Amino acid sequence: MRSSWSAFYQDQEALLQELYAGINLDIFLRDLIDILKVRSSNFILDLEHSEYSVSDFERQKLEEQFLKGTPLSTLLGFAEFYHNSYYVDQHVLIPRPETEYMVDLLVQEFKGKIQRVLDVGTGSGVILLSLLNSGVGKSGVGVDISPEALRVAGINAQRLRLKHRASMIKSDRLTKVEGIFDLIVSNPPYIKASSHKNLVHVSVDKHEPHQALYLPDDYYVLWFEDFFQEVRAHLNGTFMMEGHELELDDQALMLGRLGFKDIKVSPDLTGVKRYVKARFTQS
Ligand SMILES: C[S@@+](CC[C@H](N)C(=O)[O-])C[C@H]1O[C@@H](n2cnc3c(N)ncnc32)[C@H](O)[C@@H]1O
Repeated sequence: MRSSWSAFYQDQEALLQELYAGINLDIFLRDLIDILKVRSSNFILDLEHSEYSVSDFERQKLEEQFLKGTPLSTLLGFAEFYHNSYYVDQHVLIPRPETEYMVDLLVQEFKGKIQRVLDVGTGSGVILLSLLNSGVGKSGVGVDISPEALRVAGINAQRLRLKHRASMIKSDRLTKVEGIFDLIVSNPPYIKASSHKNLVHVSVDKHEPHQALYLPDDYYVLWFEDFFQEVRAHLNGTFMMEGHELELDDQALMLGRLGFKDIKVSPDLTGVKRYVKARFTQS
């Protein structure tokens, strides 16, 4: 049975714009249809009328998820990131443009120049796999505390034919990591669970894994101090991390106290402080 998506969008447009903060529904619909074409045997594309049809059951399921604010990428099962499409599900953070920008900065600086890369909190694997795919590092390791996230990262390594160059390891920060790396990169959880929470969009809080987003307020400083010490033990080169605009200056000072050099806090493309970068050389 045919059912019109455009009628649904017209009815729900105000709510969807609020839930999905300024989404371009036409582009989203196009992507959704591409996925459905592949996934659903009930799907019929009526090119002549530019209308899209799915079974009532399929449509109802999608509408329900839409109206709960499920991230579009989770719904679609993929996210675009740095020239590639990555499999994502509810167990991983949906990759963000500011992370993509960090990757781009690293590609510009390190393409063809380094051997080994470590990505801490790899999630879907987007940072590590994009770097390797762009010629930053001959091999790399992605670590995550979440086995479900590592499964997603493994799928993406396979899809990008990078399995032979990327190992995925379950580890609490760097505790299970061995060896020395030329580049250590991370987009760790960096939102304070209480005091920063009011800055988080309600649908992010509701639909993305809390382990990927939050750290307890009273453990925050210690978490990063331990993290930086672990990074120091495995780094002979550059460390770059995405972080919280209200915390990065203190974290830069902490890196200095721990003996890192050439420390720099820099903004993302919206002008918000977003990254700290530093160097450490093994003696
Ligand atoms: C902000 S997400 C980043 C995911 C991905 N790298 C990206 O940029 O889209 C943080 C990731 O760190 C992982 N994580 C949280 N605590 C961790 C820990 N103690 N050790 C290792 N990974 C951790 C989470 O499971 C999550 O996948």
